[in-house]
Amino acid sequence: MPGFLGTRASLMLDVVFLAMFAVVPILFWSIYLVRVKRNYQLHKQVQVTLSLVLAVAVTLFEVDMRFFTGWREGAQASPYYSTGMVEKSLLVHLCFAVTTAVVWTLVVVRALRNIPSPPSPCAHSVWHKRWGWIAALDMLGTSVTGWIFYYLAYVA
Ligand code: HEM
Repeated sequence: MPGFLGTRASLMLDVVFLAMFAVVPILFWSIYLVRVKRNYQLHKQVQVTLSLVLAVAVTLFEVDMRFFTGWREGAQASPYYSTGMVEKSLLVHLCFAVTTAVVWTLVVVRALRNIPSPPSPCAHSVWHKRWGWIAALDMLGTSVTGWIFYYLAYVA
């Protein structure tokens, strides 16, 4: 199914490309909430909601990529396809995406198990803060490399 952004990308690629422009600010707003405002409850709600929405979106996206559309469709017309740049940028993006999925899942599951409810600073804080920042920066890297791949494959 063709996308709605007027590029060569499919509908799901357009949805994910745009969604990341919302996910990144929401994520850093949630960190601001906990770091500056000390609103632990809202941080928890935002992070759990974001995780559930992302889990559904990633599943739909993977099904579409693997069984229906495939990323090569549309990308082959790019001047960067034959040079191998499109494939290289996808590999870099996948390094970020795969590690983000693993680290993000660990951070959420460990937070839900080890942080008291209602949430507040506790013995798990040191681990959570370190890996929470790693998860957030990994997600930022996933988004930036995803946007670069999208441009090289479907816009250029
Ligand atoms: C992937 C999901 C999550 C990410 C990326 C994340 C990220 C972060 C980060 C980066 C901080 C440290 C902010 C600072 O520098 O002070 C933090 C603090 C905190 N988070 Fe999360 N968080 C996530 C999920 C959760 C969940 C599900 C809970 C509750 C069950 C939670 C509860 C807290 C609490 C209580 C703090 C404050 C810790 C303290 O200051 O001692 N977080 N989070």
